[in-house]
Amino acid sequence: MANGTHRKLRLHVMRYNPRVPGDAPRLQTYELEEADGMTLFIALTEIREKQDPSLQFDFVCRAGICGSCAMVIDGRPGLACRTLTKNLGEEITLAPLPFFELIGDLSVNTGKWMRAMSERLEAWVHMRAGELDLTRIEERMDPALAERIYELDRCIECGCCVAACGTARMREDFVGAVGLNKIARFRLDPRDARTDADYYEVVGDDAGVFGCMSLLACHDVCPKNLPLATQIAFVRRKMAREGLG
Ligand code: SF4
Ligand code: F3S
Ligand code: FES
Repeated sequence: MANGTHRKLRLHVMRYNPRVPGDAPRLQTYELEEADGMTLFIALTEIREKQDPSLQFDFVCRAGICGSCAMVIDGRPGLACRTLTKNLGEEITLAPLPFFELIGDLSVNTGKWMRAMSERLEAWVHMRAGELDLTRIEERMDPALAERIYELDRCIECGCCVAACGTARMREDFVGAVGLNKIARFRLDPRDARTDADYYEVVGDDAGVFGCMSLLACHDVCPKNLPLATQIAFVRRKMAREGLG
């Protein structure tokens, strides 16, 4: 705000509906007045309510928890609900996350990809064969270890790390930093019966940890500030050892 007046913002939004025959990707510009504390969520909602009800974008929690509002903001993946317009210029460009199936405009189907990736990695606690030992599940965990697992569980599956990753652009089957983070998380969990050899089966290839070229864009864009570089290095060390063995 300057001299009590709000800035005029110009949002250039990528529009394209793959379900409309003949539609083509294009940038559409919307102008609006910035308000105090305005986020991109608020700006897009105002545009949809007052200017263009056909504009598609996703929001659920508006609090950085659900991961559904991820989009490319001035060339960088991020959460629209956590992005204040005051931290951006007056010209703002918004595009959908690349890599994921486009639903329309800024809306992409990250859920479909995340489900397939989680199934492929079997991202759940595996019991020992023939064992359904509830006492083990309820065993007290060392608080420091629980804290380390909790840290990795903060992933909200927003897809920013995958959208920013050069490997993901080249390999459709790459599990991304989000997938490698899951493997690191389950490997830490003493309730998971899998061995390093079992983890090697699922991520010991170029679609997994050996496809990662350490580009680290994932680490830079993760809105939850997860220690992705450390986790990927950790999984790679373990898997390399398993591969040699
Ligand atoms: Fe999003 Fe970070 Fe999880 Fe990737 S690791 S999906 S960027 S929260
Ligand atoms: Fe991609 Fe991150 Fe590896 S950006 S190449 S997953 S370090
Ligand atoms: Fe849920 Fe942005 S709306 S993270």
